[in-house]
Amino acid sequence: MSTVSAATREHRTTIRSLARKKRRGERIAMLTAYDFTFARIFDAAGIDVLLVGDSLGNVVQGRDTTLPVTLDETVYHTRMVARGAARALVVADMPFGSYQVCAEDAVRAAVRLVKEGGAHAVKLEGGQGVREAIARICAAGIPVMGHVGLTPQSIHQMGGFRVQGRGEEGRKRVLADARAVEEAGAFSVVLEGMPAPLAAELTASLRIPTIGIGAGVDCDGQVLVMHDMLGLSDWTPSFVKQYANLGALASKAARAFAEEVAEAKFPADEHTYR
Ligand code: KIV
Repeated sequence: MSTVSAATREHRTTIRSLARKKRRGERIAMLTAYDFTFARIFDAAGIDVLLVGDSLGNVVQGRDTTLPVTLDETVYHTRMVARGAARALVVADMPFGSYQVCAEDAVRAAVRLVKEGGAHAVKLEGGQGVREAIARICAAGIPVMGHVGLTPQSIHQMGGFRVQGRGEEGRKRVLADARAVEEAGAFSVVLEGMPAPLAAELTASLRIPTIGIGAGVDCDGQVLVMHDMLGLSDWTPSFVKQYANLGALASKAARAFAEEVAEAKFPADEHTYR
């Protein structure tokens, strides 16, 4: 008797299917998700990859940076997302501090995200400096997605959220970082906040799929933070396209509810047990 679930047998996105997409020139769609409900909606809508981003620090926890997000919090959110994902690949973002100190920490943290969180892969930020961490996590059998360019966990070192890879020096640094990530064994890499020609150059020269955010249209795929694309954020960067305005809808619904409660119109007869 097989113990493989229907979702696994059917059309689960895998690192192999993502590599195939790159070879065939098919684009990859990735969105962040932080809970079961949105994971289920995005999964059913055909999103290839669900990222439990450390952006949860900003959009779920209301913090200014992603730095305070903990491994326990990421495991908790990953577990909810994994429950809602029947087909999408679930990638858990490794929080700041969980992989920078030593490769042993990195492997331990990645194992928790897979074992307790149900992630299929992990993502971590950085290039040449995280080569060993990537290689060791991969050696433990856990696929790794890299993240180069604008890396929010290095906000203080970058001096703010600044586009990276400008000028010849910057270009060479980002190229070297992305190549280090590929050589270390990553299956894919996020290219964030960089000039579109640089992202295009990387996409053409790397064998692994590139997923862009604020990096132009020539990447192998695109990712957005769900709160930004659904209109749930107060402010969004200029590279974001808002595909819906759920914030306005939610506000209108809440106001209507409050009015009906004030006027004793809710609950009406059909919402009342007799
Ligand atoms: O945390 C996150 O949401 C991310 C994406 C912006 C790529 O890392």
